[in-house]
Amino acid sequence: MIIRISDAKNHVDQEATIQGWMYNKRGSGKIYFLQLRDGSGLMQAVACEGDTPDSAMKTAGDLQMETSLKVTGKITQHPKHDDVFEMQVTDIEVIHQPAEEYPISKKEHGPDFLLDNRHLWLRSSKQWAIQRVRNTIINATYDYFNQNGFIKIDSPILTPNACEGTTELFEIEYFDEGSAYLSQSGQLYLEAAVMSHGRVFDFGPVFRAEKSKTRRHLTEFWMMDAEMLCDHEENLKIQEELICHIIKKVLDINQKELTILERDIEPLRKIKAPFIRKTHAEVVEELRGMGSDIQPDHDLGGDDETILTQKYDQPIFVEKYPAEVKAFYMKRDPKDDSRALCADLLAPEGYGEIIGGSQREDDYDVLMARIKEHKLDPKVFEWYLDLRKYGSMPHSGFGYGLERITGWICGTQHIRETIPFPRMINRIKP
Ligand code: 4AD
Ligand code: MG
Repeated sequence: MIIRISDAKNHVDQEATIQGWMYNKRGSGKIYFLQLRDGSGLMQAVACEGDTPDSAMKTAGDLQMETSLKVTGKITQHPKHDDVFEMQVTDIEVIHQPAEEYPISKKEHGPDFLLDNRHLWLRSSKQWAIQRVRNTIINATYDYFNQNGFIKIDSPILTPNACEGTTELFEIEYFDEGSAYLSQSGQLYLEAAVMSHGRVFDFGPVFRAEKSKTRRHLTEFWMMDAEMLCDHEENLKIQEELICHIIKKVLDINQKELTILERDIEPLRKIKAPFIRKTHAEVVEELRGMGSDIQPDHDLGGDDETILTQKYDQPIFVEKYPAEVKAFYMKRDPKDDSRALCADLLAPEGYGEIIGGSQREDDYDVLMARIKEHKLDPKVFEWYLDLRKYGSMPHSGFGYGLERITGWICGTQHIRETIPFPRMINRIKP
């Protein structure tokens, strides 16, 4: 019977077959320790002269890294670890033996080599672990929204206008209609849907022609946007709950993966609502005290986010940025018209921005004026302005970057490892 490695605990002292790949091998002649992987986990299979038939010993000797195979034997519990299982090999059937040596070996490889071989690198244990954590984050996000009355609305990817400013747009020719753009965020469409359902979210790929080569930027990434009939305060509360729910789920489900990633989980365990809240003005002062040359009317730079978030062990909401550096659709702070009623959520340990959100401008005339100030074409935003013309309602929302959150929770150095096939300014392959 073929079993999955993750299910081995239910087959102790039984004979079973694992179908998978030879991940690693130690030993020679008299005894081989084969590390098998089958997608669900890793397991050691022991082939030992005397116990294992000679033909299987010979096959074990010939096995190479990433040979695909079926290995049969008795499942046993590790003598010292309750949750570790092994197999005592009685038979090995090779499915496919690579003709050439597997390109990714145990030795250190540079990032370019690994990225060129991303189609194979995905099999390595750390990369395996990251994708599983990412999967948990996606599922936890869906759980949270399903438990809290949100409806999933799928926003379009081909759009006639910009959402987040026009400098980072991918433009394509769209038949006789002129230019179309790849979506930077589904937010504007969710603002239409929230007037139908009250609480909505989307989740999909978005695109930014980012010229920046940093450890935080991709040109294609996955964003979850949420939109609610609520004010700025409640917007932040929902973000806190969502992030706490995600962390809890990963800590519950992915212990093994976090161990493989050598992630210190203490900082994750400590995450607790309410998160730290600071205004942009406070943060500017604090950063200048730490040696940054940030100006009061500037956005936070990547380095600013790093030094600020290394100082705290909780996520930080940075609220009320200068309206000048933020998008046209943000409502202004009623107490200070030069500020937006917005917040970015910065993850601790130097990770920086994971969420951008705001209350939206809900007044027709004010929004029209903003569109003109930002030199956007009111014609393409007619439908968006209609939302303020027919029963306008205060609403707020936010968007998270899935890869940013995955990178933080996994403790990766660079965002490129958090997405199966990263697209960056200098990389489109494989
Ligand atoms: O802060 P941003 O630009 O916000 C929006 O797009 C809003 N329309 C969202 C909303 O209110 N519904 O992007 C949201 C998040 C950022 O906080 C960051 O986590 C991620 O998307 N992000 C990127 N991730 C990877 N590579 C990039 N180039 C990213 N740009 C933004
Ligand atoms: Mg942002």
